[in-house]
Amino acid sequence: MDYAQRFSQLNKKAEPLILGIESSCDETAAAIVRGRKLLSNVVLSSAAEQAKYGGVVPEIASRAHTDAIGEAVERAIAESGADKHELDAVAVTYGAGLLGALLVGLSFAKSFAYALDIPLIGVNHIRGHMAAAYLTDATLEPPFITLLASGGHTAILYTKSYTEFEILGSTRDDAAGEAFDKAARVLGLAYPGGPNVEKLAREGKPCIAFPKMFRGGGYDFSYSGLKTAVINYCHNKEQKGEPYSRADVAASFQSAACDVLAERAVLAAKEKRCDTIAAGGGVIANGYLREKLANVCAENGIRLVLPEKKYCTDNAAMIAEEGVTQYLAGNFADLSINACAHIPLGKKGKQ
Ligand code: KG4
Ligand code: ZN
Repeated sequence: MDYAQRFSQLNKKAEPLILGIESSCDETAAAIVRGRKLLSNVVLSSAAEQAKYGGVVPEIASRAHTDAIGEAVERAIAESGADKHELDAVAVTYGAGLLGALLVGLSFAKSFAYALDIPLIGVNHIRGHMAAAYLTDATLEPPFITLLASGGHTAILYTKSYTEFEILGSTRDDAAGEAFDKAARVLGLAYPGGPNVEKLAREGKPCIAFPKMFRGGGYDFSYSGLKTAVINYCHNKEQKGEPYSRADVAASFQSAACDVLAERAVLAAKEKRCDTIAAGGGVIANGYLREKLANVCAENGIRLVLPEKKYCTDNAAMIAEEGVTQYLAGNFADLSINACAHIPLGKKGKQ
């Protein structure tokens, strides 16, 4: 019998105790939730090591995960106050991400679940980012609008139920986080790009008119035009030998990249007659975007569910929380589940 099948008749608990494991990029993370209550959250990062190379080196990430995974899980269990034998399932990111890095978490999770004879749940990393909202507001229930802005995806979704969503619009080229990382490179800022652009932007003014919008209407985004405009602006100034403020470029880029996200999420909420917007993904950690979202939501009488910054960037709490949804839906994985480098968010429309 397949491993998943063994649990098909499981008597499910309403508030399962779930261990989440995340290792898709440079954070080795483990967390424990009971239903929507977060009991522990451990993140061990190799970002400082990666910064020396200007980005994530997959081989370094895999080795760092191998070194850190045991400690991360051990600490998550100890800090939760629960015993590992009380766990109801192990949820683990199986994609998208760096293959070698994913395999470390996935192999660990498989053996852990097998040894405890409990279900294994494969979590799509992006669905994890979307689930961070449930940890933020325990009363949150679909339907609502999700604004997803990460390193790999930028989208506005209509979250219809815990397991079904409709993509209203997504990026046609670069994701918002990718645009932040590319802007950081042009500005000579170190990895990780997004937080460093935000820091520099605080010293500048958004006085340069970079293009804001994809001009096609609807909810789709495009960041390649903005990226090119930033590159052209800097190169032009440099070629002419004219001085310019890098801080003003950062601030102008940041407002052009973020305003459109907040404005379109509100438009979507109005069109779908939703009174709630939930946000998720690394770019949502951006202070300017958080303030902009809070303001436009307040002006339009929309409830905003904004996860704390540490639950926007990579963590295992969100993976464990998505694990709760999948556990309740009975979506268990076999031990043959493999890591996936790419998992498309889905096509525009209903999923
Ligand atoms: O959501 P995430 O983990 O990416 C994916 O799962 O795909 O987030 C990483 C992205 C990176 O592009 C990073 O530069 C960006 O989020 N990011 C930020 C900030 N913190 C992280 N972008 C802008 N401002 C920040 N404070
Ligand atoms: Zn992520």
